[in-house]
Amino acid sequence: MSEARRLRYLGAMGIQAWAERGAKPAPAARPEPAPAAPVVARIAPVTDAAGGDVVRLDWDALRARVAGCALCGLEKTRTQTVFGVGNRQAQWMVVGEAPGADEDRQGEPFVGRAGQLLNEMLWALGLAREEVYIANVLKCRPPNNRDPGSDEVACCEPYLKRQVALIQPRIILAVGRIAAQNLLKTDTRIGALRGQVHRYADTGVPLIVTYHPAYLLRSPLEKRKAWDDLQLAARTLGAAAG
Ligand code: URA
Repeated sequence: MSEARRLRYLGAMGIQAWAERGAKPAPAARPEPAPAAPVVARIAPVTDAAGGDVVRLDWDALRARVAGCALCGLEKTRTQTVFGVGNRQAQWMVVGEAPGADEDRQGEPFVGRAGQLLNEMLWALGLAREEVYIANVLKCRPPNNRDPGSDEVACCEPYLKRQVALIQPRIILAVGRIAAQNLLKTDTRIGALRGQVHRYADTGVPLIVTYHPAYLLRSPLEKRKAWDDLQLAARTLGAAAG
């Protein structure tokens, strides 16, 4: 990407002030070496507690299973499930927390204000929204956008794992604390999870943690750190591709 184009994208993300100072984007705090072996080869079959057979569902059957899911109780308050959207052959997979009000209404993840910023973050990387696959830890909106319960996450986990297994992304971007902690099964604070290359579950897929766009809308000064995270993800993907 040319410097001028990159600066335009950064402007769209709302961080032109520091970008225009001419400094090259700061390297992430602790860049990690690239994965030693191709990731795809190490994606193992996933097992699931909720449905038993979710591991064998194809896209259509998985979508239908999610649409009819009534495992955790959120079906009582949802308008509809929010399955995920994007390129099923994507290299990049973005995983957020759960649908909000806009997503619950429209049936698509990240369509509200946070979604607009997410699109801009992707543009900053030279990626169109349609090129990546976007999903959430939960497929249903928790009432009043409360944090997902651990039982709800457990019920929904097989669906996300199956999406990952079907897509076989080269990199996963976990946006926000809830996504990061649930994907990595940790209570570690998000600040300490950033700047490292993690792996998603037993798949070996590299996973990078960054701030949730809704948080960045409230705390725009943190966008610079998010840009560092995005660059770490791009470097990790580039290094893995050789
Ligand atoms: N926040 C999320 O984490 N996911 C969405 O889909 C929308 C907002």
